[in-house]
Amino acid sequence: MPHLALRSLAQKYGPILFLQLGEIPTVVVSSARLAKEALKTHDLALSSRPQIFSAKHLFYNCTDVVFSPYGAYWRQIRKICILELLSAKRVQSYSFVREQEVARLVRRVAESYPGTTNLSKMLALYSNDVLCRVAFGRDFSGGGEYDKHGFQKMLEENEIKTSANLSLFQSTFDQMVTEHLNPMREKEEHKDLVDVLLDVQKEGSLEMPLTMDNVKAIILDMFAAGTDTTFITLDWGMTELIMNPKVMEKHKLKSSIASSCSSVGPKRIYGTCNDRWIRYSAKTRIFVNAWAIGRDPETWENPETFEPERFWGSNIDFKGQDFELIPFGAGRRGCPAVTFGTATIELALAQLLHSFDWELPTGTRAKDLDMTEAFGITMHRIAHLIVLAKPRFA
Ligand code: HEM
Repeated sequence: MPHLALRSLAQKYGPILFLQLGEIPTVVVSSARLAKEALKTHDLALSSRPQIFSAKHLFYNCTDVVFSPYGAYWRQIRKICILELLSAKRVQSYSFVREQEVARLVRRVAESYPGTTNLSKMLALYSNDVLCRVAFGRDFSGGGEYDKHGFQKMLEENEIKTSANLSLFQSTFDQMVTEHLNPMREKEEHKDLVDVLLDVQKEGSLEMPLTMDNVKAIILDMFAAGTDTTFITLDWGMTELIMNPKVMEKHKLKSSIASSCSSVGPKRIYGTCNDRWIRYSAKTRIFVNAWAIGRDPETWENPETFEPERFWGSNIDFKGQDFELIPFGAGRRGCPAVTFGTATIELALAQLLHSFDWELPTGTRAKDLDMTEAFGITMHRIAHLIVLAKPRFA
């Protein structure tokens, strides 16, 4: 696991390392101070990502936001994301989707009682459903659509074997966009992200007009960058809470008292989730080990203990200002969807804590849970979280 191996090296050799990884000169940064230097002082020089082979194939020749190189095109589409697709106003306009999907999540979990529930599966469905409805205005898991298109499966498999799935993936996207272009299509009350992008494209005020492939690349990013991150944050958060019933109780109490969800605010949970990412300068790859930084004993007391209360009353910023906690990255290429992501996670987490008493299945102890992580762009547990969720308001 790179984040673990690189932390071990940093503990031995210091917070900045140079590694020659095959042909690629690589610098690994593992302290808040050096992350700030990389992502703030030298942000401009490190504002591109490596255009890996599979990204060129999958993301329409890297014309999406994540992989397009720093320059006029990236600035234009990033601006569209910030101002149009992921603005606070737009995120607010999708509150009905979040509310309905959280209600469905709670219903699905409740239905499994008195049996156990595969919470990981439910959380993956939730993240996928929110993104599908927001992006396409379509419900993929109700009425068999989800299985028909199999988005989650496609996304998972595309990480492993790109070309085999590529045409299936792209044909689904083509179909979605074609449906949106149909003048006979019934106008929805709420615009989805494809509608918004097609409007921007039509307005014709862009310096570089967007092609249909550009539109698809941007939408694909919303899935690729949005579903797994949301899912793993919820999955790790719930895993830690269920393994630490005393912590769960404290937060449950807060989520019951609070009229909004602010009591289980994201920074409390993001402190626990794994994250690392890669930036790129002209020749050298930079790894920022955000996972190690979030557990640095120089900054954090008892860094290995799950203690989300440490953030109560703290004003540490988790959106890229304070480099001790950077789950969303920082600087020019920092995550443009902090508002979107936190809104999707907060409501689900607060409702899950509020609606159920959580236990591990009889005979399973917290220390028996297999915490092995899968190797990938995001790090999720290989084992699913199987739990007993007792409805509190049946
Ligand atoms: C818990 C949820 C999320 C986490 C923890 C997360 C984290 C991150 C991180 C660490 C980066 C790289 C930052 C850097 O290089 O400094 C990133 C970039 C990005 N994220 Fe997120 N993200 C989340 C949710 C989302 C969602 C929901 C979307 C879209 C709907 C999204 C879209 C993007 C995009 C497009 C980029 C690339 C930005 C660019 O290169 O200009 N993210 N995210």
